[in-house]
Amino acid sequence: MTEALRLPAEKIHAAELEALKADDKERRPPGWALSPRAAVTYLMGGKAANGMPISAKYVGDKRLIETAVATLATDRALLLLGVPGTAKSWVSEHLAAAVSGDSTMVIQCTAGTDENQVRYGWNYAQLLAHGPSRQALVPTPLFRAMEAGKLCRLEELTRMGSDVQDTLITVLSEKMMPIPELNESVYAVRGFNVIATANNRDKGVNELSSALKRRFNVVVLPLPDDMEQEIAIVTKRVGEMAQSLDLPAPKNVSEEVARVVAIFRELRGGATMDGKITLKTPSGTLSTAEAIAVMIGGLSQAAFFNGGKLSAEGLAPNMIGAIVKDPVQDKVVLEEYLETVLKKRPDYADYYHMLSDLT
Ligand SMILES: Nc1ncnc2c1ncn2[C@@H]1O[C@H](COP(=O)(O)OP(=O)(O)O)[C@@H](O)[C@H]1O
Ligand SMILES: [Mg+2]
Repeated sequence: MTEALRLPAEKIHAAELEALKADDKERRPPGWALSPRAAVTYLMGGKAANGMPISAKYVGDKRLIETAVATLATDRALLLLGVPGTAKSWVSEHLAAAVSGDSTMVIQCTAGTDENQVRYGWNYAQLLAHGPSRQALVPTPLFRAMEAGKLCRLEELTRMGSDVQDTLITVLSEKMMPIPELNESVYAVRGFNVIATANNRDKGVNELSSALKRRFNVVVLPLPDDMEQEIAIVTKRVGEMAQSLDLPAPKNVSEEVARVVAIFRELRGGATMDGKITLKTPSGTLSTAEAIAVMIGGLSQAAFFNGGKLSAEGLAPNMIGAIVKDPVQDKVVLEEYLETVLKKRPDYADYYHMLSDLT
């Protein structure tokens, strides 16, 4: 039997969604699988009416998720904005799973995305044989979401050209898409809406036109502002991911998470935790998502090469990859941090030695 590497959120959490739905007495907006309150519970965690515990998907401010869910029930679309690794795609997938019961209608926007990938394309064999017809039309995820009354996700919206972005204006303002070749239009079924994500850090992104911006309500997902919360997020996600990858989690995982997160936060914030030393910041974001990736890399290394022992030895090479994105500038930043800060901390001696050896 073959097994999928990763299933969509609504499959992984089918039991939770079912339990939330079973006793959902609150009003559902037309076309929604859950009421807004139940959707928020699915994202933030809690309990279903039958007592089933609902795991937290997003760790952070509940009000952000409430605003996001409330927006989706209006005629405005939702734009999740933030630096890379702040769970924008993650939240978007789970929102679609909760609201539509389907998170698979996704368009990954790139500089090469053209109108046909946003609106619809044509099956040329059919087109040549029979002329333009609905059979020859190839619907995009956006098209299918309109027809099915579901949510469509647009990943990294600002990566595609402004002219292509603007093809969304009619869809978002009039909830319809003209198909001039067939002299007809698709009208969005109730329940349809769009969740876009965009990051405000990358180079080479295209500004949203003000006409399009007006159709979106923006929710900014922040980096966790307190250290405890960030450690909690990383520990939780690392536990879940290790399990799905069949990696054993050694006892000291939470200790190492705390040290990795502390180093990341100091470098990211440009100051030591006690505020006494200012530091240069590296060019990467050193986001929560990167701390998670470092830990998973370390766990894999521990499992396969270090006899299951998780230590600075396996983690440091992964940390270097996250910290030193620019081989010249970032190396200087890291060296300075090692010499002025880590060297003086006895409880970080192993990290100091491993990181110094590798830079
Ligand atoms: N506040 C958070 N709550 C839960 N998971 C988070 C949080 N911040 C980051 N993550 C984790 O970070 C990982 C990457 O997030 P992702 O959605 O790909 O980031 P983005 O799309 O913003 O670049 C996910 O595995 C997600 O679980
Ligand atoms: Mg993303």
